[in-house]
Amino acid sequence: MTRLRISPPPPPAAAYDVVVAPGALAELPALVRDAAPAQRYALVTDANVAPLWGEAVLGALRDAGLTADPVIVPAGERAKNRGVWGDVLDAFLALGLGRDAAVIAVGGGAVGDLAGFAAATFLRGVPVVQVPTTLLAMVDASVGGKTGVDVPAGKNLIGAFHHPRLVLADPGTLATLPDEELRSGLAEVIKHGAIADATYLVGVVAEKEAIFGRAANVLAGIVARSVEIKASFAAEDPYERGARKALNAGHTLGHAVEALSQFALPHGHAVAIGLVAETRAGELAGVTAAGTAARLELALSTLGLPIRLPAAMAPADVLAAARSDKKVRAARLHYALLARMGALARPDDAGWTFALDDALVESALEQCRERP
Ligand SMILES: NC(=O)c1ccc[n+]([C@@H]2O[C@H](COP(=O)([O-])OP(=O)(O)OC[C@H]3O[C@@H](n4cnc5c(N)ncnc54)[C@H](O)[C@@H]3O)[C@@H](O)[C@H]2O)c1
Ligand SMILES: [Zn+2]
Repeated sequence: MTRLRISPPPPPAAAYDVVVAPGALAELPALVRDAAPAQRYALVTDANVAPLWGEAVLGALRDAGLTADPVIVPAGERAKNRGVWGDVLDAFLALGLGRDAAVIAVGGGAVGDLAGFAAATFLRGVPVVQVPTTLLAMVDASVGGKTGVDVPAGKNLIGAFHHPRLVLADPGTLATLPDEELRSGLAEVIKHGAIADATYLVGVVAEKEAIFGRAANVLAGIVARSVEIKASFAAEDPYERGARKALNAGHTLGHAVEALSQFALPHGHAVAIGLVAETRAGELAGVTAAGTAARLELALSTLGLPIRLPAAMAPADVLAAARSDKKVRAARLHYALLARMGALARPDDAGWTFALDDALVESALEQCRERP
């Protein structure tokens, strides 16, 4: 027998810029040329975003002398699947794209995840530039390199890490975003404040009017600070083995609530409920300072986000859904918990998450439950 040991280098995760500014879309052609030079570009966007922003971006790229073609997918989460992923790859092939091409994703997190995964897999990987047009995609989905699609067995179960060459967030694009979608992104913003910066959280709530008035400078400040916080956890942990788990605060239960609602609840709304319930559980476990959940509830509800588990959802069912979502066979589910507002708690073993008993979490969920 011959046994040769091959030591591949660690997967490269090169540094990239996140550019946040009102009007930044106008700079896209020059920035793309620099960060992701390519012979040809495929601009992937969805049917909602194409007329609002996609066509203008395509025009600007062409005006700057770049060769770019649109690939338009159906809007929203329902297009983030294997079928549409295959369609996007077929479109790339039909366009005759080669290894000297690059992908530009213009849209929300669904488009970013789908286009990113297509870029990760096309010819074993071509560069991708993320141009997020929802608040959620700006503060969360576009940064960090996670890409993928949903399958009937669950969300995001098929995917790859594929870090972008550039992220360009122009808060001006949020002018056309419905309030409900803006709110969904705000839940992640509050999460960032809760785990890392209480002053930031208070400031965001105080800017409520400006946020919903789409004040681009205020939104730019929020996107920049949130990306900074996300990056502070994600940068040292590009493949989610440690610190990045902190960003899952509110998501163990949030994902479960989202799934139990059959995805009728927008992601951010489910995360808001998850954040409150997990923080209540942290308080019951003696990990989180008393009163933290109440402060979170005030912040979230001021922004119009829900803070109560719907009466129709039994706490035991939420836990069962969390278990199936996490593919957990182990005895206890894990949670990223706050020590107090603005600071994450760290367990004694220097890990990032706490294992809590289902019974304790069930009581926390019961405390948060809507009274019929
Ligand atoms: N990769 C990651 O790390 C990561 C992190 C968080 C979330 N996500 C994923 O992101 C997705 C959710 O992102 P999302 O909330 O942006 O959803 P989305 O992409 O479905 O966008 C929401 C809706 O807003 C529309 N839209 C987008 N931009 C618009 C604009 N400027 N004006 C008007 N309408 C606009 C879209 O067409 C869609 O109908 C989920 O699939 C989630 O799994 C990924
Ligand atoms: Zn989230």
